[in-house]
Amino acid sequence: MPEMKTIGVVGGGQMGSGIAQLGVVHGFQVWLLDKDPQALSWSADYIAASIRRLVSKRALSQAGGDDALRSLHCTSSLEELRSSDFVIEAIVESEDIKKKLFRDLDKIVKPSAVLASNTSSISITRLASATARPHQVIGMHFMNPPPLMKLVEIIRGADTSDETFTITKTLAQRFGKTVICSQDYSGFIVNRILMPMINEAFHTLYTGIATKEDIDAGMKLGTNHPMGPLELADFIGLDVCLSIMRVLQAGLGDGKYTPCPLLVQYVDAGRLGRKRGIGVYDYRKVPELVKP
Ligand code: NAI
Repeated sequence: MPEMKTIGVVGGGQMGSGIAQLGVVHGFQVWLLDKDPQALSWSADYIAASIRRLVSKRALSQAGGDDALRSLHCTSSLEELRSSDFVIEAIVESEDIKKKLFRDLDKIVKPSAVLASNTSSISITRLASATARPHQVIGMHFMNPPPLMKLVEIIRGADTSDETFTITKTLAQRFGKTVICSQDYSGFIVNRILMPMINEAFHTLYTGIATKEDIDAGMKLGTNHPMGPLELADFIGLDVCLSIMRVLQAGLGDGKYTPCPLLVQYVDAGRLGRKRGIGVYDYRKVPELVKP
């Protein structure tokens, strides 16, 4: 297995920032790219603040924190990712946009590099088909927030090689994660089960069966979920939830995956959840939760 020193992360949103943090804290050089300079600067500040918090809680030594901060390189130029041994994509959940990125990355990064997607639901086989290295393309699906959540779901596309799988699993384990493995079908394991539940919670609200507070309290106290489904949807991002429902609907072809009209309406209104200050709930009085 080739030695891995440098990781590229594309997309400096909630997921990409957390993945980049994992990379630098675990001893890799990380090139973090976002097309939006404001998002990139938010991401760099967020990672630096998280690392400082780890140092203050003694979860990381001062020297370890300094090394981690020095290992983070932010860029808006894809060319800078050329030295990466492993690239993790965490941009918007759109097949066309991700395919274009994979096509571009394939031309830039070295021939041995693995291209992984953090997609929640999009076919890895189809993303791989945009490249000339389909055996080195894989799904590496972190949970939110990546530094805290213990799971990584690995998805093998139709042509993913055993070596690519082993490299990816080893990296996830080096990050301290437990790995589960899914076949490449819409939503994989976690979102195939989670998103219909969130969508049903929206239907429960939409049809006036209960208030948002009672729906969330019901699932927290009644089924021991740490967050209610509507609260979780706001945390994930309502745009991300809607995109995943649309992928499930298109890929699995069953009416039960039709997105709830209320979810669609919230996204149309720009109520994307915590990151925009408002989703099902209003977070504008808690500015530290809101992404500028
Ligand atoms: P986000 O909206 O917080 O961040 C996406 C970032 O990608 C933005 O900063 C945007 O400027 C950047 N971006 C978009 N297109 C780009 C491009 N072509 N090149 C470079 N940067 C680009 O989204 P989030 O929540 O971080 O999700 C990212 C991916 O991770 C999606 O595929 C999503 O399905 C997946 N995911 C999300 C989870 C969640 O709870 N939000 C959980 C697990 C996976």
